[in-house]
Amino acid sequence: MTKEKILVTAALPYANGPIHLGHLSGAYLPADIYVRYQRLKGSDVIFICGSDEHGVPITITADKEHVKPQEIIDRYHSQNKAAFEKFGMSFDNYSRTSLPIHHETGKDFFLKYYSMGILNEKKSMQFFDNKARMFLPDRYVEGTCPNCGYEEARSDECENCGALYQPNELKNPKSKITGETPVLKETSHWYFPLGKYQKRLEEYVNAMNEKFGWKENVLQYCRGWFKDGLEDRAVTRDLDWGIKVPIDSAEGKVLYVWFEAVLGYISSAKELSQKLNRKNLWKEYWHDEKTKYVAFIGKDNVVFHCIIFPAMLMAWNDGSSERYVLPQNVPANEFLNFEGKKFSKSRNWGIDVADFLNIFPGDPLRYTLAANLPETRDTDFYWKEFQLRNNSELADILGNFINRTLTFVHKNFDAKIPPKGELEKIDSEMLNLISEYPSKISELFETYKIRDGVLEIMNLARAGNKYFNDSEPWKTLKSDKEKCATTLHVCLQAIYTLAELISPVLPFSSEKIFKMLNAEKTGWNECAKENLKTGHELRQPEIIFPKIEDEIIEKQMENLNNNETALEKPQEENVSIDDFMKIKLKVAEVIHAEKLEKSEKLLKLKVKLDDGERQVIAGIAKYYAPEEIVGKKIVMVANLKPAKLMGQESNGMILAVEDENNKLNVLSVGNSVKVGTRVR
Ligand code: MF3
Ligand code: ZN
Repeated sequence: MTKEKILVTAALPYANGPIHLGHLSGAYLPADIYVRYQRLKGSDVIFICGSDEHGVPITITADKEHVKPQEIIDRYHSQNKAAFEKFGMSFDNYSRTSLPIHHETGKDFFLKYYSMGILNEKKSMQFFDNKARMFLPDRYVEGTCPNCGYEEARSDECENCGALYQPNELKNPKSKITGETPVLKETSHWYFPLGKYQKRLEEYVNAMNEKFGWKENVLQYCRGWFKDGLEDRAVTRDLDWGIKVPIDSAEGKVLYVWFEAVLGYISSAKELSQKLNRKNLWKEYWHDEKTKYVAFIGKDNVVFHCIIFPAMLMAWNDGSSERYVLPQNVPANEFLNFEGKKFSKSRNWGIDVADFLNIFPGDPLRYTLAANLPETRDTDFYWKEFQLRNNSELADILGNFINRTLTFVHKNFDAKIPPKGELEKIDSEMLNLISEYPSKISELFETYKIRDGVLEIMNLARAGNKYFNDSEPWKTLKSDKEKCATTLHVCLQAIYTLAELISPVLPFSSEKIFKMLNAEKTGWNECAKENLKTGHELRQPEIIFPKIEDEIIEKQMENLNNNETALEKPQEENVSIDDFMKIKLKVAEVIHAEKLEKSEKLLKLKVKLDDGERQVIAGIAKYYAPEEIVGKKIVMVANLKPAKLMGQESNGMILAVEDENNKLNVLSVGNSVKVGTRVR
């Protein structure tokens, strides 16, 4: 049988900050477990990653620190690379998109499309900073939201109220670079005709799903995009940090970061080829239609990997005989939260991977994250759960089974594998169970149910403990030494199998177990056979999973809460009753609602107040159908300055709260409250 050729990529993290546990759960840990598993199966796999080093946020960080972007990317590239190594990521190559080989790759793709004539040049109006003499990316412009009055709104979107508008509607726009008022100026960009690929993309996604079973969450994201209709996408930006657009008329423009970042998977494979001195190695994967390409990412990256990147590869393939393989599967995960909230660098909510591993080195983090992967929904990391998983699963189940078996054999069988005697039912049942395991776990891992696989492996350790208990070797040692020997023989085979099956998840611990067994791995398909021969000598056992004490965990939780309160304090400035009463919160009744054309977020409402009717534009269209909101008595700010939104007058603001599913709930009161009543 020829080996299956597999190309695995994991999203390239931005070199704009330290990676956190959420990143690990989203893409990197499942990818690493999958790859390590495939290697044990004997598949021919390469595992590709690297830093994503362009884009506006990196230039913003650099400006803030008054350094060059290069300094930022150098810092976080090496920091993240080191953190990944410490975490046990087994990339074959960890590259970076600032390398010449990547710049060339990005330019090649642009020029290929350009020469095929598929890129469209289009003009648009963008903010221009006369003092800095540059076009400003959306995030470099700040102004007052035309809807809610929020003063730090972006040029086309307000993160406070969710409103979307045209740049010319933003009030009091300011350049974040110079503080000057920017002007709107015409610029031109090249657009990739994504819309033209919609039909082929839908066929591709459906075909892959039918053959290889895509995850439901991923399909849903794709269908959402298809339903909204794909539009042309600008692949250039007015910026000087990035890959220069390789044509003469494009002075001062770079390739859009997402357009080139996905190509990092190709350039990283090219770099690997150079390092290994095998010039065409990368082609053996990327240009072989039999290659199985699996792209691990988090949910926020789905559109880029299931739609845009495949379209880019299709376009290339249309114009070249060297055809790229498209992702066969994109097992994107949802998000991991931290103690009930989103990770946040600015709020100090979460923990650096490197810091974590300094305090708790080795595999406990991998295990906890793996047992809790956000494969079908968002999940949470909790310090208490981390402690529990370590103490009552790693230590009490897996560690205990290994330790009690090995110490018993050292003490009573001279550290040698005891002979297997006549098998009783309980023994053959245990041996049977062991033998079923590799294919059982394979089925789960092959279908990206990594979490279930990990928990199932732990069940084998549970079964091992039960077998040990039920067989009572401490009794048979005196009453029936042959039976006792058989029990330990079987336990040792179970440990061997466990050590191999768990190695993709717990690579560091697995190595320690093999050392104690004085044995080597045999490969996934062989690992449930009787690999430890009678008489084989074991090494000294040691505790692999020390318990984590309460104090240590409590200290971590305390640190976290201190971070939070330290940050929240300065914002807690008190307001007087008079201040508060300046804001007229009133009950109003919604008497009419309709969707606002061209907006996904906005509903146009007519509401009744004590002083008459008025129009309010509210950013709730994603959460309420018009007919759902009509008739509700809601709470609104009645004396907010009128504003224009997408050309529509808005008089007031509706109050709403976000629930734990990120759904907005409009605050409403019972029908017995009269319209116009003050809320106090
Ligand atoms: N840097 C992006 C993120 O962290 C991921 C880029 S994936 C790539 O969300 F394919 F574009 F490289
Ligand atoms: Zn707003």
